[in-house]
Amino acid sequence: MIAVFRLRDGSLRAVSAVCPHKGGPLADGQIDNSIVVCPLHLFAWDLATGCSQSGQAPINVYPVREDEGQILLGE
Ligand code: FES
Repeated sequence: MIAVFRLRDGSLRAVSAVCPHKGGPLADGQIDNSIVVCPLHLFAWDLATGCSQSGQAPINVYPVREDEGQILLGE
């Protein structure tokens, strides 16, 4: 499962939807311009790199773009 977020500037980010900590729903997490915060224990990951900001395992980051109204994952 992949979570896709649209940032305030309109750009898209796509990351693993399942939190590597205890399986929380990252797709339901709060975001700002650079991080997603898991709703279960509030650990944060960088949306661009997937790196944890709290010492957890990284999350996968996927290329995502929009083309004529369709969201496309992959290169
Ligand atoms: S399950 Fe996501 S931070 Fe714990």
